Amino acid sequence: MKVIETVAEFREAYPQAPKPLGLVPTMGFLHAGHMALVERARADCATVAASIFVNPTQFGPGEDFSTYPRSTEADLEKLEAGGVDLVFAPPADEMYPEGFATAVDVGAIGCRLEGERRPGHFNGVATVVAKLLAIVRPDRAYFGQKDAQQCLVIKRMNADLNLGAEIVVVPTVREPDGLALSSRNAYLTPDERRAAPLIYQSLLVAKRLCEEGVTDAMEVKRQMRMLLEKSPLVRLEYVSVAHADTLEELDLLASPALVSLAARIGRARLIDNLTL
Ligand code: PAJ
Repeated sequence: MKVIETVAEFREAYPQAPKPLGLVPTMGFLHAGHMALVERARADCATVAASIFVNPTQFGPGEDFSTYPRSTEADLEKLEAGGVDLVFAPPADEMYPEGFATAVDVGAIGCRLEGERRPGHFNGVATVVAKLLAIVRPDRAYFGQKDAQQCLVIKRMNADLNLGAEIVVVPTVREPDGLALSSRNAYLTPDERRAAPLIYQSLLVAKRLCEEGVTDAMEVKRQMRMLLEKSPLVRLEYVSVAHADTLEELDLLASPALVSLAARIGRARLIDNLTL
């Protein structure tokens, strides 16, 4: 496994890499969710590249950029064990050198849900992923369904800018009790960790109601909120029942719908979703 820190070095390594080339972009502190993307890329591609870069431009003021968990050595061990060939792990000034000024704005899809609560977040994501796709030039890039809106933003940007990668979405990996794996789960105290599965359980409530034939989205959201209120540790930010492609809020549950939520538990802000 070759670890590369500069764009110039990646450009040198690129021609020797057998194709197809798959890219797994990450911010490090890797867990089994990230590794599911690596596994999928390993199964699909002759060369697997992963990137580790905690992207400052996707964090808002007061968010956890400076405290975001980092574990580069352990990450490199996991990537090596997962069969990754190339790791791109640039320092911040390699990605954003002095004078850097361009930003990718994906429009409406980046302004709803998470975009409404984290202004500028998806422009930061779209900009850094556009750069990673331009540097690595993968045939396929892998993203997790856990961040469903991020997947839509990246698909939009990849199509609009003709970046030419195939965007592959990999199902969410969960703990046995349903909690979606996330680097931010590391912030949870034992009590908070015990409350956290309510997030997934509320999504299962939505799934059950849908299967029972309930079509009123307000009713679905009401029952999800009721469950989440069972723990005083869960501070709900939003629940949404939206069209799975446009993310426009739905009054009536219709296929394909994305049920999603964000909640704060202690100092962690956690998101999860299910497609119905
Ligand atoms: P990060 O949070 O490190 O996640 C990297 C990738 O792993 C994302 O595509 C994310 O959706 C996926 N992932 C995280 N948890 C997962 C889980 N439990 N199951 C399946 N996939 C999971 O997302 C980012 O980094 C950044 O925004 C990035 C795309 C790298 C741009 O900076």
